Amino acid sequence: MKAFESKHRILILGASGFIGNAIYKELCAYFKTYGTYRIPKKIYEDNHHFFQYNVEEDDVYEVLEATKPSIIISCLRGDFNAQTIAHHHISEYILEHDCKLIFLSSANVFDAYSKYPSYELDKTLSGSIYGHFKIKIENLLLRLPKKKVAILRLPMVLGSQSPRLKEIKQHLHDKTAIEIFPNIIMNVTTDSKITQQIHYIINRNKFGIFHLGSTDLVHHDEYIKDIISLISSKNGVVYKHVYTTNEDRYLAVLPKFNKLPKHLEITSKEVLDDLLK
Ligand SMILES: NC(=O)c1ccc[n+]([C@@H]2O[C@H](COP(=O)([O-])OP(=O)(O)OC[C@H]3O[C@@H](n4cnc5c(N)ncnc54)[C@H](OP(=O)(O)O)[C@@H]3O)[C@@H](O)[C@H]2O)c1
Repeated sequence: MKAFESKHRILILGASGFIGNAIYKELCAYFKTYGTYRIPKKIYEDNHHFFQYNVEEDDVYEVLEATKPSIIISCLRGDFNAQTIAHHHISEYILEHDCKLIFLSSANVFDAYSKYPSYELDKTLSGSIYGHFKIKIENLLLRLPKKKVAILRLPMVLGSQSPRLKEIKQHLHDKTAIEIFPNIIMNVTTDSKITQQIHYIINRNKFGIFHLGSTDLVHHDEYIKDIISLISSKNGVVYKHVYTTNEDRYLAVLPKFNKLPKHLEITSKEVLDDLLK
């Protein structure tokens, strides 16, 4: 029998995804951990801790009733309207039960601002449909009792298994153009650092808004080029330069008020090192 750290029962919505699966692997040895997947796969069908769930077709309440979580971690993608309804139902469950939600949000909740990096208490404002959607869910969650919610705002998430790295490798293989944004200054992180941070947030019962970007900032174009020189010796890589504005634009989330301990911080160089693991 496993020695579980606590009585927590954890439900990860989107546990078959890049970040959700990394979180599942980190937590399942310590807590009773359940997860959802959308696309049927034998590995999940055979695992009694996994439930098939499609946000557009299924009622999340059924998964909640079946798993009775004390912590829900939302790592979903899918139709925005359906996700909004699901998060309304999750909010009702949280109000009625001894349960907390950890929601993966994005630096895009600030993508309408350009001149500075963003901190936890800055007002959100987005110019994108994705950013608007994340703000809507955040605002819904911020109406819940504050100790019951952790909102994690993530920048670009990389890792050896990240879809973004796979996409870059595919472009290199196909000799097709890789998009770079010379005006964007951003921060980055890895799936493995996020899983450590979430484990800490659970163990220490932390709540509130967390900005989980690297401590330093990088230019998008230079960083993508650094990644490419790390994983390939190819010359003649094709780039497509995308200019969204004439001036530099920040898409960076930095912590000021709700900081995690030093060992849970990451630098952009450490993110690069992680890609080769
Ligand atoms: N990756 C990043 O750089 C990044 C940055 C900022 C924020 N985030 C946020 O982090 C979360 C996880 O991102 P990710 O990169 O790990 O995404 P991902 O790899 O695409 O995983 C998405 C998860 O959601 C599930 N899913 C997709 N459509 C669904 C639907 N219609 N109904 C139910 N489940 C569905 C997927 O199941 P299947 O695998 O079965 O399709 C998978 O488990 C998202 O909320 C995203 O907005 C990610």
